[in-house]
Formats: sequence, C-alpha cells, structure tokens
Amino acid sequence: MFYKPGSHRENGFKRDPFKAFVSPRPIGWISTINEHGQSNLAPYSFFNAVSADPPCVMFASGGRMDGKGKKDSQINAEQTGEFVCSIVGHDQREAMNQTSIHLPYGEDEMPNAGLEGEASKLVKPLRVKNAPVHLECKYMQSIQMPCWHEGRENWVIFGEVVGIHVDPKIIKDGLVDVTLYQPVSRLGYMDYSAVTELFQMDRPD
Ligand SMILES: Cc1cc2nc3c(=O)[nH]c(=O)nc-3n(C[C@H](O)[C@H](O)[C@H](O)COP(=O)(O)O)c2cc1C
Repeated sequence: MFYKPGSHRENGFKRDPFKAFVSPRPIGWISTINEHGQSNLAPYSFFNAVSADPPCVMFASGGRMDGKGKKDSQINAEQTGEFVCSIVGHDQREAMNQTSIHLPYGEDEMPNAGLEGEASKLVKPLRVKNAPVHLECKYMQSIQMPCWHEGRENWVIFGEVVGIHVDPKIIKDGLVDVTLYQPVSRLGYMDYSAVTELFQMDRPD
C-alpha cells in the first residue's frame, strides 16, 4: 500500500506508524543547565550521531505541548552553549522514562526521578550517575524544521562531542560490548527495545 504522511487513519492505521518504521531510535538523555545554574534532564529519541570526525550528535525537539515555545533542553543548550548526552542502558530505563515528565522551567528532573548527577569534565551540565556512557557536547546550531501544528515548533539541535566518559565495565578486549549495558531504544507507539544480541557482517570491499 501507499499513503501520504498525515493520512494514516484513512488508510486503516489506528495510530501514526511513522516512528515504528524509523526504528529502533537511540535515546539521547540530554542534560543541560540554564544561565541561573538550574539543571534539566530529558530523553529525546529523535537523537543520533551525525558524524564521527569530529563526533557530532543531534536531538530534535518538538516544542512544548502547550504551544508555548521551545522545550527546556533546547532553551538551555542555546542559552549556555553546552549539553551532555547520557546513554540509556536497560538498568536506567524506568528512571529515563520518569525524566520525560513536564516540570516547570528551572525544576530539575534528575532528583525527581531518584537520580544523582555527576560533574562533567569540560562542560557545566551534570551527567547521569551510573549511565554507561556520557557524551559531553558543545552546542553548534539549531535548525528549524517545518511544523504542521499552528503555534508549535520543530527544531533540530546539533552539538560537537568534546569529551566522552565510558564505564570500564562495558569494555572487553579494547572494544565496547553493548550487550553488557543493553542500550535502550525507542520504537513506535509505547514500544522500546534493548540490544541483547549481535551479529557481524564484513563489508563487500
Ligand atoms: C523515550 C522518550 C523519547 C522522547 N523523545 C522526544 C523527542 O525526540 N523529541 C521531543 O521533543 N520530545 C521527546 N520526548 C518527550 C520529552 O522527553 C518531554 O517532552 C520532556 O518533558 C522534555 O523536557 P524538557 O522541556 O525539560 O527538555 C521523549 C520522551 C520519551 C519518554
């Protein structure tokens, strides 16, 4: 079958399947700090690495549900020029979900979810203690995307990774073994997956 974006209901879908098609998506657990020194943490599954040399990442923010502008993570990253992306392992899944709560601007989701922050080395935002990997990032730029909903905004926020923390427990023979922390990713609807199995393939040339 073929359908145009936005016409999923007329084509028999109960809910928009787009995010189920583009899956699994890694989750960037984005911590930021605002100009008053208040911390913020939230998960973003429109998140990915976009280059490796230098390593750069992006997260995309859909704007606040009440239509009142940008989400806190974007505001803070743009304001103070830094963010940290903690990687979500299977052990962090419940706490990660808890940090998606919409607290008033300036209130920190980290203690609210029973999490502790740890100082970063090169940037001010705290990283999530016990997460297997942390990417310390310098904000690069934001690009505004089209948005179908009047009064709402879609943005992509880019950052360069300037420092990386890795839990030594996930390193085996000089390689990262993702099965030791089982990165959690987002599928469609309310579905998630965790990496528990791997297979290898050699490139053709
Ligand atoms: C697993 C997961 C992934 C999410 N991914 C996104 C996303 O990619 N973009 C987005 O705008 N919101 C996403 N959300 C919702 C935000 O986390 C939520 O709106 C949060 O309150 C934003 O916080 P902030 O305003 O402190 O940045 C996601 C929520 C969950 C649980």
